Parts: sequence; structure tokens; C-alpha cells
Amino acid sequence: MDWAERYRIEHTPWDLGCAHPTLTARLASGELAPPQAASASRSGARALVPGCGRAHDALALARAGWIVTAADLVEDLRPIVEPQLAEFGGNFVSGDVLTMQFDEPFELVFEHTFFCAIDPQQRAAYGDRMARAVAPGGRIAALLFPLDRPDERGGPPWRIDEQVYEAALGDAFERVTLDPAVGRTGGREWLERLAVYRRR
Ligand SMILES: C[S@@+](CC[C@H](N)C(=O)[O-])C[C@H]1O[C@@H](n2cnc3c(N)ncnc32)[C@H](O)[C@@H]1O
Repeated sequence: MDWAERYRIEHTPWDLGCAHPTLTARLASGELAPPQAASASRSGARALVPGCGRAHDALALARAGWIVTAADLVEDLRPIVEPQLAEFGGNFVSGDVLTMQFDEPFELVFEHTFFCAIDPQQRAAYGDRMARAVAPGGRIAALLFPLDRPDERGGPPWRIDEQVYEAALGDAFERVTLDPAVGRTGGREWLERLAVYRRR
């Protein structure tokens, strides 16, 4: 998949044009709100959105008080993403998330159609990167999609489910919740769930 080309020609069917409704609901309910102690500190609570695309989710998190790092392979996304996040103290990083080094760990990762977009052979590298990126006690909120897509359709997106995702994360994380996604999500044909994991 030539991701930069897909953005250049604006063929991005995965882009909902807004934050995922499940994220919006969890932010409104406070379940994915930044921890109060961290919010009150000078540096704030840090969240990472890997494979952020046009960063609708990242911006929703930033508006909710997270200091967001949005990361994507596609440097051309910078002029769209960076000014919006900078307003809330966040930033955009371009490059391969699977090999990216971060100065400090994050308290939240919001995963949305990044894991299903990478080659299945890269899943162990994803798990390794998440274990390094998330602080002990920190969380991953993973919008798992597409859960029921037939394997013979190939990918990306590759069919995933919580077992596949948890196999990639390994023992570094424990599952806290697993719920159906809520809200309408454009032309999405396949089932979605939100799983939340805590870093041991
Ligand atoms: C299916 S899109 C999802 C984008 C965004 N999460 C959304 O829901 O609109 C997958 C994104 O991951 C990015 N991507 C793919 N492989 C990547 C990698 N190894 N490191 C960073 N970004 C990557 C692509 O450029 C693309 O923006």
C-alpha cells in the first residue's frame, strides 16, 4: 500500500471525517479522560495515536485535555495535523511507528485502523513497540476492526480480533474491558469493538 499516494489522490475510504463515535462517547463519559493528577501537572498527560491519518481522533483527545503525539508514515499529513494539535500542546511525528523511539512513555495509546493496516508479519514489532511506548499502569484503547472480514479478501485492512491483537501485545498488557463499538461509522462494512488494555 502506497499510503502517501492514497492521501495525495484523496482515496482514503477509512477516513470517517470525524473522531470515531466510540472515542467521542468514551471521552464524554470520562472513561478515556486524562488522569487528573497528570492533567494538573505542568507537562500534562501524554497520549499517542499511531497511524493517525488526518488525526480526527488525535484532535478529539487533545480537546479532551491529552497532550497528543500523532504519528504517521506520511510526511504530507503534517500541514493538516500539526497546526491543529499544536494549539493544544501536541505534535505530529512522521515515520515508521514500528521503529520509532519516544523520549517519554505515554499514558494512553488510541489505536484505530493502524494495527489492521500493517502487514501481519509486523504484528510482533507492533506489540514490542507498544510495550515500550506505554508507561506502567497506562492504557491502550484499541478500536478493533474489521472483526468478521473473510480472510480470503486479503488486506489491508487485515481481519483482526481481540485474540490476534492480544497475541501481538503479549504478557505486557492485561485486558480491562471489551465492548461493542457504538455509533454510526460511515461505510464500514465489518464489525468493530473497543478493547481497553492496561500496561502491567
Ligand atoms: C487505514 S489508515 C488509518 C488512519 C487513521 N487512524 C484513521 O482512522 O483515519 C492507516 C494509517 O497508518 C499509516 N501507516 C501505515 N503503516 C505505518 C507505519 N509503519 N508507521 C506509521 N504509520 C503507518 C498510514 O499512512 C495511514 O495513515
